[in-house]
Amino acid sequence: MAAKWTYSDKVKDHFMNPRNILREGNEVDFHGIGKTGNVKCGDEMMVFIKVDPATQTIAECKWQTYGCASAIASTSMLSEMVIGMKLEEAYKISAKDILTALDGLPDNKVHCSVLGDKALRAAIDDYYRRNGMEDRITTQESKIVCECMQVTDHDIEHAVLEGARSFHELQEMTKIGTGCGECQEQAMAVMSGYIQKHFGL
Ligand code: FES
Repeated sequence: MAAKWTYSDKVKDHFMNPRNILREGNEVDFHGIGKTGNVKCGDEMMVFIKVDPATQTIAECKWQTYGCASAIASTSMLSEMVIGMKLEEAYKISAKDILTALDGLPDNKVHCSVLGDKALRAAIDDYYRRNGMEDRITTQESKIVCECMQVTDHDIEHAVLEGARSFHELQEMTKIGTGCGECQEQAMAVMSGYIQKHFGL
């Protein structure tokens, strides 16, 4: 029997008609470029932004990916959400915000929605770096725990604060360990440390 189609109408629409994909050849026109994931691990996402320097808002947000249907739909939605948004506001967008805007994703596809917002933060960081505003970069001091998916200790801490208590939950929220899998032991140790730090468990 065919699997039940569990995607929302919005997910289907954004997957079938993705908005703001960057066609080849004009990356140099952008003010900030961010990348996350690793094509060797199966998923890679790049986000390109143009910024209105007077208002510090995002004027344009384009993207490219080797991700799945859920990653495509999530990033398409994200690229529409951030237009006209202040950089610091866009920096705070989480996978949860994107999921809400899409009316949800199937449980086992939630982790695919984190690529876009991470690549967006990397693009904003890139813009700050190019414009002498390094002091506004908050992801700089974090330590990469998962090389394949570029998940940092800060991402793990954020996931713990959002409710992750098992490696599976952490993976759903961050995509950690979905490439080569070699980071799993370290990821669990970092997660346990944050659970102990914040909740004493
Ligand atoms: S380092 Fe490869 S999946 Fe984390």
